[in-house]
Amino acid sequence: MKNKIEILKDKIQKAHLGGGQARIDSQHKKGKLTARERIHFLMDEGSFEEIGMLVTHRSTDFGMENEKYLGDGVITGYGMVNGRLTYVFSQDFTVFGGSLSETHAEKICKIMEMAMKNGAPIIGLNDSGGARIQEGVVSLGGYADIFYRNVQASGVIPQLSAIMGPCAGGAVYSPAITDFILMVENTSYMFVTGPNVVKTVTHEEVSSEELGGASTHATKSGVTHFACANEIEAINQLKKILSYVPQNCEDSAPALPYEVGNEERTSLNEILPSNANQPYDIREVITQVADEDSFFEVHAAFAENIVVGFARLAGRSIGVVANQPAYLAGVLDNNASVKAARFVRFCDCFNIPLLVFEDVPGFLPGTDQEWNGIINNGAKLLYAFSEATVPRITVITRKAYGGAYDVMNSKHIGADMNYAWPSAEIAVMGAKGAAEIIFKKEISAAENPEEKWLEKEKLYSDIFANPYRAAERGFVDEVIEPAKTRAKLIKAFKMLENKVVNMPRKKHGNIPL
Ligand code: HXC
Repeated sequence: MKNKIEILKDKIQKAHLGGGQARIDSQHKKGKLTARERIHFLMDEGSFEEIGMLVTHRSTDFGMENEKYLGDGVITGYGMVNGRLTYVFSQDFTVFGGSLSETHAEKICKIMEMAMKNGAPIIGLNDSGGARIQEGVVSLGGYADIFYRNVQASGVIPQLSAIMGPCAGGAVYSPAITDFILMVENTSYMFVTGPNVVKTVTHEEVSSEELGGASTHATKSGVTHFACANEIEAINQLKKILSYVPQNCEDSAPALPYEVGNEERTSLNEILPSNANQPYDIREVITQVADEDSFFEVHAAFAENIVVGFARLAGRSIGVVANQPAYLAGVLDNNASVKAARFVRFCDCFNIPLLVFEDVPGFLPGTDQEWNGIINNGAKLLYAFSEATVPRITVITRKAYGGAYDVMNSKHIGADMNYAWPSAEIAVMGAKGAAEIIFKKEISAAENPEEKWLEKEKLYSDIFANPYRAAERGFVDEVIEPAKTRAKLIKAFKMLENKVVNMPRKKHGNIPL
């Protein structure tokens, strides 16, 4: 037995060395952690249990039968993240560049299936040169097996992807299907075709970082939700996301103990500028309303005219969607619509109640917007809110104009409670534009058209630039003093705790993609 145990120990030691010390050193020199080190920082100490450590590839072409590494370039298993069961796969760049072989893919699929069966989140730590070139089509098949399971798992368990090295070609589609992507500045990149192919086909000269680095995807494409300064920051963000989300779609969002006290936030009465066309930072409203230090913004650098993120209210996890008047006046455009729609759908999948702060002058006009599909994209957000069955509350702080009024979680599309501050303006459009259209003849016939226009603008504004027309109809449930917002929301979300909605039976809806 002693001898046999020695053999086992030897194998474990070999597996721990991955592709060997030289390649580990090279990984460190690039400023990257190894696959095992990443798991070490992610999981609670001593909690990680590896599955499939002794798996090797089955390839025999190109002399591959003589080059095998235990684990075959991916470490898979389960453990605890802040005391909660979590599954992980971590690609090992020191073994064939973390490339995906048939067996590497099988290991990932196995862990994904376990995560689904046992109802716990799965985290993928990606660092891979893509398909194992020596294996050809079986590697491509392996990717497709993973993609298929990503889709099966979507909406069942939270799936998070951290990109900590290369992620290129079709390989990008696994992270793309998962719920959140995190990238590390300067050491990770994602693209479907790399700089060389780009140069050949389009004659563009572009570096990997510029084409598909963390900043590019955080700001330009919106592919990544977080651009992290280093790997440790990325791992900490992964843990933070998990702290707001349930284990699976049957579970409720986590709650921290909380005793209701004095929930008045008097500073909110002073937060709006006196001129309704002046900007303010909606994040200040969110942080005042949410539990202290609980607001966690997601996708912060993309489509900054809408803010999305997690927060806690009286200890309970909520998802926040808010127009941002400090950026493009908080207008809805293509990117903002898609960003918010995806976040709303994530929250709805995982029973996280939604809180919306609305201050929106409407949809952004222009050929760029129209030609890039604002009709479809705006419809995504409308669809996402309309189909969400979680508790949903809206607070209109200021403007709620035009179609955007309907889209931003209005009563009409199923919001449970709609509050407005006394500063709310709920109308088809701003008073100036409205007056110009409906009093066109009177204005142009007037001796002083400018003066007439101002007079009519005031008239329209007096009638509609307030929340009371909407409140008379019950489209707004209550007009509230800003300072009381937090207290009202705590009570209302508590009241909605056991909300049940039965949607019409269907296979699935057809969201306008
Ligand atoms: C097998 C690979 C590999 C791969 C890297 N390696 N990529 N082995 N299959 N795809 C091996 C290298 O031979 C090398 O082995 C080690 O990993 C490290 O690679 P280096 O090139 O030395 O590292 P680096 O300079 O950091 O460059 C990393 C890299 C480069 C940019 C990822 O290796 C690269 O371009 N690889 C090929 C990428 C690619 O074309 N993949 C296929 C994409 S198509 P040694 O023994 O020297 O350590 C695809 C389709 C997916 O993925 C389809 C899904 C639908």
